[in-house]
Amino acid sequence: MVKIAPSILSADFSKLGDEVREVEKGGADYIHIDVMDGMFVPNITMGALVVEAIRPVTSLTLDVHLMIEQPERYVESFAKAGADIISVHVEATKHLHRTIQLIKSTGVKAGIVLNPHTPVEAIRHCLSEADLVLVMTVNPGFGGQSFIKETVTKIKELNELRNHERYSYEIEVDGGVTDETIALCTNAGADVAVAGSYVYGKNDRGAAIQSLKKAAK
Ligand code: DX5
Ligand code: ZN
Repeated sequence: MVKIAPSILSADFSKLGDEVREVEKGGADYIHIDVMDGMFVPNITMGALVVEAIRPVTSLTLDVHLMIEQPERYVESFAKAGADIISVHVEATKHLHRTIQLIKSTGVKAGIVLNPHTPVEAIRHCLSEADLVLVMTVNPGFGGQSFIKETVTKIKELNELRNHERYSYEIEVDGGVTDETIALCTNAGADVAVAGSYVYGKNDRGAAIQSLKKAAK
């Protein structure tokens, strides 16, 4: 069964606690938190303070997606704030292996993120260390964009490598996930699907989560 990670980027920030509780009640598996710095991506969103504020509200896994330059500078503060998974873009850190080690040293799971144009080969030598690989299915920066189909081959490739090499990472997809695109991802081997506008754009968030799970089968 696919795991659904609603992205609070599309939630109503004036009542964030309720927005998190509602998706937890509706069957969400992770809470996805999109951190943007206005440098790595052309948008600024939230920081460790928001993670800290959400932590006591939910027992779900807090899945923190860092879209920031030199993410190693902030790993410790996000770990302290209560992140369960911290994912960094290979395009944003000079020493990916060192950054993964740093994340793990804080007791948090380490994820690696690939932009749509970045090949799996770019992270090939860090895969044995990864707890999660996040395949961007849109260009990072905004919610509500359209799914880029060309990225699906990378999901397949990561799934095959995982089987072949007995790696243990989860494969997550992020961007443009709807009831029409989710099966492309899960058929290719994705385990976790982030969904922002699809879930928070509906009044009944629980029904939206269930319809994604159903469409993924
Ligand atoms: C994009 C973010 C996504 C975004 C997804 O930069 O990483 O997590 O919130 O939003 P939707 O599901 O609306 O494409
Ligand atoms: Zn994200």
